[in-house]
Amino acid sequence: MSLDRASAPALDEAAGMLRELSVARQVFALYQAGHPKREEAVIDLLASVRRLDQLVRGSVVLFIGRKGFYLGPTLLPRASLTYHGLLEAFEEAGIEAVELLPAADAEELSVFVSILCREADANGHLSGIRINSVRPIRDADEESGPMKELLRSYASGVQFLQETAQRVAAGRPTTMEQAERITARLAEQVVADPAQALLLTTVKSYDEYTYYHMVNVCILSIAIGQAIGLRRDQVVVLGAGGLLHDLGKVKVPKEILQQPGPLDEEQWRIVQRHPVDGVGLLLSSTRDLYHPALSMVLEHHAAYDRTGYPPLSGQRMPSLPARIVAVADCFDALTSRRQYRKAEERRQALAILQAAAGRGYDPRIVRTFVRLLGLFPVGSLVRLTSGEVGLVVRNHETKPARPVVRMVLDPRGDPLDAGEQREIDLSERAADGRHPRSVERSLDPRDFDLDMLSLLSTGQLEPTEHDDGVGLMHEPAYGEQPPPGYVDAHDELAVREATG
Ligand SMILES: [Fe+2]
Ligand SMILES: [Fe+2]
Repeated sequence: MSLDRASAPALDEAAGMLRELSVARQVFALYQAGHPKREEAVIDLLASVRRLDQLVRGSVVLFIGRKGFYLGPTLLPRASLTYHGLLEAFEEAGIEAVELLPAADAEELSVFVSILCREADANGHLSGIRINSVRPIRDADEESGPMKELLRSYASGVQFLQETAQRVAAGRPTTMEQAERITARLAEQVVADPAQALLLTTVKSYDEYTYYHMVNVCILSIAIGQAIGLRRDQVVVLGAGGLLHDLGKVKVPKEILQQPGPLDEEQWRIVQRHPVDGVGLLLSSTRDLYHPALSMVLEHHAAYDRTGYPPLSGQRMPSLPARIVAVADCFDALTSRRQYRKAEERRQALAILQAAAGRGYDPRIVRTFVRLLGLFPVGSLVRLTSGEVGLVVRNHETKPARPVVRMVLDPRGDPLDAGEQREIDLSERAADGRHPRSVERSLDPRDFDLDMLSLLSTGQLEPTEHDDGVGLMHEPAYGEQPPPGYVDAHDELAVREATG
């Protein structure tokens, strides 16, 4: 394979192949040798390897470095984040480079997956798969910054949710302890640098929408909990509830979760079972009948004014942690592309939350959240009076109109290279006492179509991944015009009660 940058379809397929490899590794861990599920997983993997082979001139060379997976010289940022468990498995097996030759067949791929599961060792002879025979690329910058640490924690959150879904599908219980360990680490990082953590929640996935959404809600909930003054141990429990809030969606069929068009009434009814299903799954995996995450999973759609679902008994309103998760959930859903609606700009999403405060959402929590995100929320793109475009990376509490921005486009609209992306504090004055730059207006990220993950992990400005019309399958926010076919299960219960 030439060491030129791979083509976009080859990069897409390489990410697809890593997905199949990651699934195969999980299937091998759950099912014993000879199980038909193992065979199915290897066949899917082989099909992807063959497709990739067609797209790449010569043989496929995959490098595994500290930052992630590379196809030839090109980093695959999203696959590196999404298949973090696989990355660790490569590291543990001591594999830094893999060359897949046309002779690689199902049998050899099966041995290869066994090597990654530590069932076999990497020294055996394979004629179609060469391990560590080419020199790996060394990362130019291997220093670790807060964003890299955060990305690693983010990746372990996504990995935990993927594995949990696999376990549930195989009829095994989930583990609460792991959720709390991941959240404890994230909580530490969010407390140390909330702005960096909030920036990370701009990352969305096009294949694993729901898992990324759950990790984002975890981070946002932690940030709110911290801002309202909860104790560290309370923040950790809150984060675990945020991470698991949509756990019940693992029971929603994949066809519904990934349906490109609008859902029909029956499908929405299935989706709305997820708070109750989530509690069922949690109860089967924790001995604690009163685990605090239960209320967040059950009540995050119940609504502050109790008009949501499932209906709460008596006069009770959703618990405080559930009201926090509801605000975080709504904001992340609004700023993600959903199957029936485009992603909202971050500022606009805050306006929608504010409009529903006191009805759908706890007004005090909405107020805290708006203050936390600022006038130009962290993660927004803004045009400056100088004509440049910047990404808001930090806010000043006393000067909300003058955030710190990272420059991404020059005045002509040309992207700046990673090395040229300076951070500028708009509150600083020049020698004559004037502000050299101010925010002119906030911009709609859809107009730029920037992939936030590439920007945050490598500083590169790249378009978002393939757009196949699928989005996050998520309930509409309170007060939002519901999509056609939407049915609120709670309304039906109310009608039934009223009519006896
Ligand atoms: Fe939900
Ligand atoms: Fe959600």
